[in-house]
Amino acid sequence: MTKRIATTFSDQLGIDYPIVCGAMFPCSNPELVAAVSEAGGIGIVQPLSMEFIHERKLRDGLRYIRSLTDKPYGVNLTVEKSSARYAERMERYLNISLEEGCRFFVTSLGKPDWVVRKVKEVDGLVYHKCTLAKHAKKACDGGVDGLIGVTERGGGHAGVLSMDELYKELLPFNVPLICAGGIGAPEDFIRALETGYQGILMSTRFIATHECTAADDYKNAIVEATESDIVHTERVTGVPIAVIRTPHVEKVGTKIGPIARFLFNHPRTKGWIRAYYNAIAGWRLKRSSQRGLSTRDFYQAGKSVSGITEILSAKEVIDTFAEAVIRTRDPQ
Ligand SMILES: Cc1cc2nc3c(=O)[nH]c(=O)nc-3n(C[C@H](O)[C@H](O)[C@H](O)COP(=O)(O)O)c2cc1C
Repeated sequence: MTKRIATTFSDQLGIDYPIVCGAMFPCSNPELVAAVSEAGGIGIVQPLSMEFIHERKLRDGLRYIRSLTDKPYGVNLTVEKSSARYAERMERYLNISLEEGCRFFVTSLGKPDWVVRKVKEVDGLVYHKCTLAKHAKKACDGGVDGLIGVTERGGGHAGVLSMDELYKELLPFNVPLICAGGIGAPEDFIRALETGYQGILMSTRFIATHECTAADDYKNAIVEATESDIVHTERVTGVPIAVIRTPHVEKVGTKIGPIARFLFNHPRTKGWIRAYYNAIAGWRLKRSSQRGLSTRDFYQAGKSVSGITEILSAKEVIDTFAEAVIRTRDPQ
């Protein structure tokens, strides 16, 4: 396929199609990131996933991606200042990424102003993920180039607004908008562009690809699931994340117990309990993504499962989505 889909976003990045493969702990293996970029979209590295799941130091992982594709890729930085150690780690990840030539960053949570300052020194781009105007304001005050709006249908930590509502919510910021959350079929891409978004970000769709190294049971569960199989559970990280309702999820329920809730709500213990849950979650999600279906698995996925009917290559996904849009614009 030779045609590009020109939008502000694809032009800014110099890519063929405004399709982002979102960062996923634990599913962003370097081969998947590279395959999406090579196919004309842009893959996003999740540094913690690179180091702790895929067992490559970030610099080695980025060089490995560079050996697989010469196209641009991005790096995700979660910029919440949960602890000084965590903030230092994010700064190190940013420095390494810049040294290795990355020029596109997707920030989430917190204030991304310090990322923007460094990235602007090398003329790079920063897009911030948000679910509401109040988060978008902080990011735009910090000088980000664009926003990635996460809808109520998203995987991971979902938003609260629909594709249309979120567009209206974020439009006043006057920066390019990318739609994330619930996009699993080409028709969703067409709708997002028609709404006014400059591109889409998909995560769950790219788990069900040959290049993703997640377990086959996980991929098959995505293909088989429908929208009503997606539930939001607090039992992984302490805050709700979207998962497929597996037998284990049914058994343990989706709420944390009263003691954990008390610790999350108490100002003196909430930092500690959050760190504890995150540590356990990292281990648990790694195990769930790499092993077959066991009785204790958590398979993260968004409502986009409803549009995902087969496991494809990353290139097939991108080509199918791009062709659908190109055909709509130019039916010849
Ligand atoms: C398995 C999985 C892991 C995720 N991990 C992260 C993450 O580490 N950082 C992040 O910013 N978002 C993460 N997300 C959220 C996605 O990047 C994205 O916002 C959302 O999944 C988009 O919805 P979709 O899955 O329906 O395409 C994750 C989503 C999934 C499904």
